[in-house]
Amino acid sequence: MKKILIIGSGAMGAAFSIPLIDNNHKVTLTEPYNLKLLKILSLKKKFHPVLKINLPKKLVIKKFSLDILSTKWDLIVIAVSSIGIDSIGKYLKNFKKTTPILVLTKGLKLDKNKIITMSEQLKKSNKKLNISVLKGPCLAKELSRKIKSYTVVANQNIKIAKNIGNIISTNFYRTEYSTDVKGVEFSSAIKNIYSMIIGSGQGNNTSSALFRKSVEEMEYLIKFFKGKKETVYGLAGIGDLYVSAVGGRNSKMGEYLGKGITFKQAKNRLMREDTIEGADLAFEIAPYVFKKMSNKKIPLMIALLKAITKNNKLKINY
Ligand SMILES: NC(=O)c1ccc[n+]([C@@H]2O[C@H](COP(=O)([O-])OP(=O)(O)OC[C@H]3O[C@@H](n4cnc5c(N)ncnc54)[C@H](O)[C@@H]3O)[C@@H](O)[C@H]2O)c1
Repeated sequence: MKKILIIGSGAMGAAFSIPLIDNNHKVTLTEPYNLKLLKILSLKKKFHPVLKINLPKKLVIKKFSLDILSTKWDLIVIAVSSIGIDSIGKYLKNFKKTTPILVLTKGLKLDKNKIITMSEQLKKSNKKLNISVLKGPCLAKELSRKIKSYTVVANQNIKIAKNIGNIISTNFYRTEYSTDVKGVEFSSAIKNIYSMIIGSGQGNNTSSALFRKSVEEMEYLIKFFKGKKETVYGLAGIGDLYVSAVGGRNSKMGEYLGKGITFKQAKNRLMREDTIEGADLAFEIAPYVFKKMSNKKIPLMIALLKAITKNNKLKINY
């Protein structure tokens, strides 16, 4: 039995507790930001408003504090959205322990003149952190209902990744491993942009061709950012692209853009309450991509970034 802390009680953080509890670990779920959610989860039933299930009785719910981090954990899981990574980094600034930290958050960050991953952003606060990443196609609602799901754990030291895999794997949550941390993190972030592009197709025929072209661009981008192109064909790449393209908020936004609706109109009128992770990512990386990358190599990505950040109608010349 291991002692595990999950930081972030949103859909994914809460769903991740299910396989861990199934494996008889002692799991604490904490929430650093959304106090309303924390209050709801602290009630006896532990009803999660997004997952629409009662979380396991054995799960401990606690308010997040620096003290929590000073407790001895066997694994710390970070499941906040990309915007929250900076604040978690600040809390981990003076963290001296070698406790494995597992980052579920998907996203990229523009840092001066570079694009960095979530794990690199955390390491900026504290170089010594023992970080692995976990990505892949995972709808939190499905995982929370024990629908068979597959994920990839990445660390340059494969032994550390496999040790984590042994802690989290169950018959309904299967793990694969990779040493290509960069490739896994970049793939899992940019698939949010490509799922919008695929969603913009006028029909399945168009979307299928856009899917093919998206995979080609993803390969180029992963190589450009020093990952391995094979990673694009793994769970964090096309695996995750599939689940995002067939349903979800990014492909819905893509559908509106494909119909000629501008991003602002779609967001404000039709998807007001929704977080569109691909759009947040577009704003983050667009300045870098427009400056440093060639339209010849990634025309779909550039067309989408222009549509989102300049509020132009989406124009795909393919
Ligand atoms: N690795 C995977 O298998 C996997 C699967 C699904 C989602 N995800 C990723 O996990 C992350 C969370 O997804 P989710 O579906 O749980 O989202 P969610 O919106 O349900 O939850 C977001 C979480 O981030 C916290 N948060 C938001 N803003 C914050 C801030 N400024 N500071 C600190 N914390 C903040 C919220 O309080 C909440 O705990 C996303 O990056 C998503 O892409 C990963």
